Amino acid sequence: MTSIVVLASGRGSNFDAIHRAIQEKRLNAKILAVISDRKEAPVLEKAKKAGIQAISIPVPEGSALERRALHEKKVLEELRKLKPQFLVLAGYMRILTPEFINEFRSEKEFVRIVNIHPSLLPSFPGKDSYAQAFHYGTRVTGVTVHLVDTEVDSGPICAQEVFPIEDCRTVEEVEKRGLEAEHRLYPQVLNWVLAEDFKVERRSEGRFYVRQN
Ligand code: GRF
Repeated sequence: MTSIVVLASGRGSNFDAIHRAIQEKRLNAKILAVISDRKEAPVLEKAKKAGIQAISIPVPEGSALERRALHEKKVLEELRKLKPQFLVLAGYMRILTPEFINEFRSEKEFVRIVNIHPSLLPSFPGKDSYAQAFHYGTRVTGVTVHLVDTEVDSGPICAQEVFPIEDCRTVEEVEKRGLEAEHRLYPQVLNWVLAEDFKVERRSEGRFYVRQN
């Protein structure tokens, strides 16, 4: 069983999907705590209801750089106490610094931090990716589970799921479809990623990606 801490900023539907998968024994993991940078984030209530430690670490006052450094320091202090084997990002709206990320680098050079991004990376990185795909007019979009590395939204890809959006009339319709895919894909992929049942490979001079053994 792999111990994890979930970092999340908002609604917490992916946290729910992960927690449910653990309870239903589809995912062999233990959530040690949920940490949020927003004290009013619904995910904290959800964690408490599930009997999981819910920790709020709001971003302190100061300049942007100071705030980020201070906030990360506090998050790291908690993580050093909790000692999770993996960090699972589920709608965590903060960019992590290389120093933070390197704390979780394994002896095999990959980082033990997993993220789900609501697009087919490398398309539509950043924020509001379902809206970006909808407004761009793509026929399909999807979701990506990837390991985190020091460049934003560009760590080695573990899995992707594609779905059509040609018939969607609003961003909300795209998002509804996307969240269904996220909640299906994330626990499924975490099951083999957290067990480190994978290899990190690359094609010729290309980028690294993750392949299930
Ligand atoms: C999801 O769409 C996730 O892919 C993105 O942020 C959203 C979080 O949703 N990174 P929730 O808080 O898990 O409901």
